[in-house]
Amino acid sequence: MKHLIPEFDRMRKRYPAGAESSLVLPCLRRIQADRGFVADSDIAELAAYIPVPRIQIEEVLAHYTQFRRAPIGRWHLQACRNLSCSMRGAEGVIEHLSRKLGIEPGQTTADGRFTLSTVECLGSCGTAPVVMVNEAYHEDMSLPRLDALIEELRK
Ligand code: FES
Repeated sequence: MKHLIPEFDRMRKRYPAGAESSLVLPCLRRIQADRGFVADSDIAELAAYIPVPRIQIEEVLAHYTQFRRAPIGRWHLQACRNLSCSMRGAEGVIEHLSRKLGIEPGQTTADGRFTLSTVECLGSCGTAPVVMVNEAYHEDMSLPRLDALIEELRK
């Protein structure tokens, strides 16, 4: 994380004195964008940099599901399982992805290409069921569309 400090210093100038704890979220986002996940060492270094109690950083990481604490696959598939998506077939979507990839939610394929997760509401309920692949939304998913998506990602 140390190589990001100059960037964090520039961000820090945008916050008034005494509001440094507001840096936790943008710093964690930047760390994850850089490394792919937030390591224990990142938490310790960030707590020393800001400074905030380590528990405050841990709470942010626990609250926001987009933060990862371990490496994941090249493609991160996040299938929504909340109400609107459930009513439009999310269980079938998740089962289909599990079967197709040979993994359960929370697991990564042996080749490191795919990680499957389930999440609560991706904020696109009107186009349920929704699967997010890395930063991209795939809406109105059907089993044929899932098959086409996986084939495309396997190329
Ligand atoms: S319930 Fe799935 S996007 Fe909202």
